[in-house]
Amino acid sequence: MTTTTTGTRAAKAVGTAHTRVEGRDKVTGAARYAGEIPFAGLAHGWLVLSTITRGRIRSVETEAVTGMPGVLMVLHHGNAPRVDTDYVGMLGMPPDPTVAVFQHDRVPHAGWPVALVVAETSEQAREAAEALVVRYEEEPHDVTFAGEYPDAHAVAGPSGAGVEEKGDLEAELAASDVVLDAVYSTPEEHHNSMEPHAVTALWDGGRLEVVDSNQGTLWVAGELANLFSLDPASVRVRSEHVGGGFGSKGVRAHQVAAVMAATALSRPVRVVMTRRQMFSLAGYRSPTTQRVRLGADAEGRLRALAHRCVSLTSTVYEFVESGAGPARVMYDAPAHHTANRVVPLDVPSPTFMRAPGEAPGSFALESALDELAEKCGVDPIELRLRNEPEVGPVSGLPFATRNLPACFREGARRFGWAGRDARPGVRREGRWLLGTGTAAASFGARAMPSTAAVTAEADGTFTVRINAADIGTGARTALTLVAADALEVPTGRVRVRIGDSDFGPAMIAGRSMGTRSWAWAVTAAAEELRERLVLSGVVPAEGITVRSDTTEAIGALTQKERHSFGAQFAEVAVDVSTGEVRVRRMLGVFAAGRIVNPLTARGQLVGGMTWGISMALHEEAVRDRRTGALYGPDLAGYHVSTNADVPVVEAEWVDDPDPDDPVGFKGIGEIGIVGAAAAIANAVWHATGVRHRSLPIRPDRVLTAGPHA
Ligand code: MOS
Repeated sequence: MTTTTTGTRAAKAVGTAHTRVEGRDKVTGAARYAGEIPFAGLAHGWLVLSTITRGRIRSVETEAVTGMPGVLMVLHHGNAPRVDTDYVGMLGMPPDPTVAVFQHDRVPHAGWPVALVVAETSEQAREAAEALVVRYEEEPHDVTFAGEYPDAHAVAGPSGAGVEEKGDLEAELAASDVVLDAVYSTPEEHHNSMEPHAVTALWDGGRLEVVDSNQGTLWVAGELANLFSLDPASVRVRSEHVGGGFGSKGVRAHQVAAVMAATALSRPVRVVMTRRQMFSLAGYRSPTTQRVRLGADAEGRLRALAHRCVSLTSTVYEFVESGAGPARVMYDAPAHHTANRVVPLDVPSPTFMRAPGEAPGSFALESALDELAEKCGVDPIELRLRNEPEVGPVSGLPFATRNLPACFREGARRFGWAGRDARPGVRREGRWLLGTGTAAASFGARAMPSTAAVTAEADGTFTVRINAADIGTGARTALTLVAADALEVPTGRVRVRIGDSDFGPAMIAGRSMGTRSWAWAVTAAAEELRERLVLSGVVPAEGITVRSDTTEAIGALTQKERHSFGAQFAEVAVDVSTGEVRVRRMLGVFAAGRIVNPLTARGQLVGGMTWGISMALHEEAVRDRRTGALYGPDLAGYHVSTNADVPVVEAEWVDDPDPDDPVGFKGIGEIGIVGAAAAIANAVWHATGVRHRSLPIRPDRVLTAGPHA
C-alpha cells in the first residue's frame, strides 16, 4: 500500500503547449504501426483488384499460382465464406458492400477486389498476385461526372442531408436588388494517408484478434462481428498508432479479406494496401457540382439563398457529399432552399474525407458570398456580418456560441485587412498580380457518449484507459493534459492508453468529435477518482479504478446549434502569363472552444489550411472515360501541396466559452480546411479580376480564363 497525493500541482496543463507524449517513440521508430508488428507464423495477403470497370468475373485461374513459391491460398468469390451485410453499423449506416469481398462475380467499378493471394512472405504473395490471371466479361460503363443533373435523386440521408426548404425562392429572388446565380465545381479528391491501410488478423483462444490502423477500434470490431456473425465480445481490435486517416480508416476490404484468410489458414494473416490500391479501396471525396443562387437588398442583406449540391456515388452504395450543409448554419434568408443530390456511376464508393460536405460546400457558398459582396459594393467581411443569423437558419435553434464576428475582427486586425482596395487586378509586383481574400468557416461541435477508466496505481501514477484513436491529431497528448488537470497532478504522472476495443465504448476519431467526447469521459472518471483519493489516499497494490459513462450527461445537454467558427484569410500572387498561382500567406482565426494543447492544435489547424491550398490549387483525380480507372493513381500523379507551395500559414483563436458545456472544448479536427479554398479563390479574383468557379485553379485555367484586369 502507498499513499497517493493529489491537489498539489501548481499550473494547469490544459492550455499549455505540450509535445506529443509518444513523439519520441515515433521519431526513434520505437512506435510500431499495424503493418510492422511481428507475429509468429505470420502469413501475408496481397489483394488482386479488377482490371475492368464493369462486368463479370468469368474465371479466376488459381492453378497456375498455387504452385508458386510460398503460396498458401487464393481466396476469391468461388471459395470465400459468405458474410452478412444486412445490418446497420455503429455510425447508423448500412455497410458499404465493397467491404463484403468475394461474395459474387459482379464487378461494379475499376479496382474492385477480386482475390486475395496469401503466401509465406509479402514478396511471394505479391509475385503470385501479379501472376494471377482473372478473366472477365466486360460491360459498358459510365464514369463521367459532369453537369448539374437536374434529375439527380434527392437523398433522405442521416441528419436531414437531403432537401430543406422554407420561403418562396422565386418571389424573393424577383424582389431582390442584387442577384447572383452561379455554378461551382470541385473535382474528385483523395485522402491518401502516409501510413497505408494495414491489418493483421488472427484467432487466439476463440477470439478474433485484429491489429489494425483505424479511427475507431469498436467501429471496426462491430462491423467485423456483424459481417462474420460473431459475438461482439469475441472480437478484439487494437490500433495503437495511426499514421493518418482523414475519414478513410473504418472497415474496408483488406480487414475482411484478412479475417477470411486467417480463419481458413488458422494463422495470423496481414494485408496491407499498396499506395495505388488505396486510390480504389480507401474511399475518396466525390466531385461536386453546386449551384448557388443569392438574392439581396442593396445593402447585401440576403432575401434568398439556394444551394444545390450534386455529388456522385457508386452503383453499390449511397454516400452523399452534403455540400449544401454549411448554408444551413451560416446564413439565413426569408427564402432558404438547400438540397443534396446524388448520381450513381460505375466508380468506387466515395466516403468521409476531412470536413465531408463542408470542404467543397464552403468553397461554393463562400465564393458566392464574395461575388455578392462585389456586386453590392460591400466589403466581404461587412457583408458577412450583416448576415449573421439570430438562430439556426434551418433548425431554428439558438446558437450555443457564435463567435464568427470575433474571428473576423481579430483576423482583419492581424492580417491587415483595413484599408484594402476592393478593386480587382490593380496591384502589381513585377510579373505578379496580387490579391487578398477571405471566407468564413464552420464545423459542428457536438459530443458523443464515451466511457473511460482511470486507475490510481500503487506507485503514485495514474493510468487512463479509453478507446480513443490518435490518428495524428495529438489526441493521446490532449487526454493526458485533461486527465492531469482533473486529477490535479503533473502530466508526468499520467499515462493514457488508447486504441483497444476491450476498453469499452467510446466515440471514434471522426466528425471532429473525438477529443471532445473522450475528454468528457476522462474528466468524469478522473474527478471522481480524485475525490475518492481525497477521502482516503491509501492505494492498494491493485490500484483504485473509477469508470465513467457520459451517455446521460450528454443526453441532458440543452438542444442548441453547436459549432466551431473561423475566418480564413489568404494573399496570393498570380502570374497571368504562366498561369501560376502562389499563396503568399494565410491566416485562420478560429472560435473553437477552449484549446487543450496549443502546440498540436496549431498543427491540426495549419494542416487543414494547408490542405485548403492543396484543394484550391493542386488536387484533382481524373478518370479515364475509356478505362474507367484513374490516371496516375499514386502520389506522383496526384498532386498535393508540398513545402514549396506552402508559405507562412498561421492559425490563431479567440476566446470561445460555452457556459452550458461542462467540458468547454470543441472539435478542431476539420474546421481548418473549411473556407480555406474559397479564401484563396477569392484572393485570385481580387488579384486578377477573374472568378474561378472550378477547382483546382490550375495554370491552364488561369491562362484560358479570359482577359485579366
Ligand atoms: Mo472525419 S472525415 O469524420 O475522419
